[in-house]
Amino acid sequence: MNRYWSKLAQGLEPYVPGEQPRDRKYIKLNTNENPYGPSPKVLEAIRNATDDSLKLYPDPTCDMLITAAAESYGVGRKQIFAGNGSDEVLAFAFMAFFDPGRTIVFPNITYSFYPVYASLFQLDYVTTPLDSEFNIPSEQLLQNSGGIIIANPNAPTGKALSMSAIRNVLEGNPDTVVIVDEAYIDYGGESVVKLIDQYPNLLVVQTFSKSRSLAGMRIGLAFGDSQLIAALESVKNSFNSYTLDRLAIIAGTAALRDAGYYEGITAKVVATREKFVRDLRSRNFTVADSAANFIFVSHSDVSAEKIFNELRARGILVRYFNKPVINNHLRISIGTDAEMAAVIRALDQIL
Ligand SMILES: Cc1ncc(COP(=O)(O)O)c(C=O)c1O
Repeated sequence: MNRYWSKLAQGLEPYVPGEQPRDRKYIKLNTNENPYGPSPKVLEAIRNATDDSLKLYPDPTCDMLITAAAESYGVGRKQIFAGNGSDEVLAFAFMAFFDPGRTIVFPNITYSFYPVYASLFQLDYVTTPLDSEFNIPSEQLLQNSGGIIIANPNAPTGKALSMSAIRNVLEGNPDTVVIVDEAYIDYGGESVVKLIDQYPNLLVVQTFSKSRSLAGMRIGLAFGDSQLIAALESVKNSFNSYTLDRLAIIAGTAALRDAGYYEGITAKVVATREKFVRDLRSRNFTVADSAANFIFVSHSDVSAEKIFNELRARGILVRYFNKPVINNHLRISIGTDAEMAAVIRALDQIL
């Protein structure tokens, strides 16, 4: 920081992404990426699009991607917004729907980008505590605040909220937007995209980084009433009209058209998760029931920090958050069966 920094820049506390180390080859279970690659049809579509046309700007309306998403989700084209990763979609949503002076609400343990956006956009926020089993007590979100954001399933706990609980939150906050961040929904939660016709205050955000194995392409979608989508378009076109590049539009479209491939790899990740959870519970780990592609665990005798460091020394990266309430927990992304077996072998040495 120096004297040239704006007051805004000086006041920021940026999000810290999980490491992407290059010093050695790790079993990388720290950023909830997909252990399986994207569909071969997606890779072929990207290869076919890598030509002279890259000299031209991409379609600012992402028409091809929006059309494919409308078909695949069964919603109208005007009910969908596309952005450069769901992080960007979330940032635009904070700008489009939340106002300084009206306090927004989210759980105290959730995706750590939410407080970062709140501070970037100078929004006041309050957090509501999780219960002792890491559930979100949804009755605490019924106060008609300046806006609500919930990750479902939540991160880093992996716990899902029921559709009826989300309906209650929507009905308890009729005058503000409720954002439901469904980054991990395909691994076990129940999506509320089907509720967008009923609730004009619902915005659902999804990503292609997890179940569609395209974290490297940066594609996110939002679903909501056409009036909400129009607000997102307005913010986007006041910031950067070309947020998705040509290859991302092509890749996202091809991914939506190969649903069968993605259902297959998602089922594999879920099966691996269930076996891994059983293996951990039989070793005195407490494991929250996960509806995501990661699990949240603590051990009765050995501290999370020690396990994190010992795993790292053995070439296995997981995520440790040194924060109140969760500083004795680890978040472990689900990899392949072979990777999770290697984690269990390492844990047996460490314990
Ligand atoms: C809850 C949640 N929301 C959103 C994101 C952002 O995903 P992306 O920007 O890759 O779409 C993540 C990434 O890990 C996440 O955990």
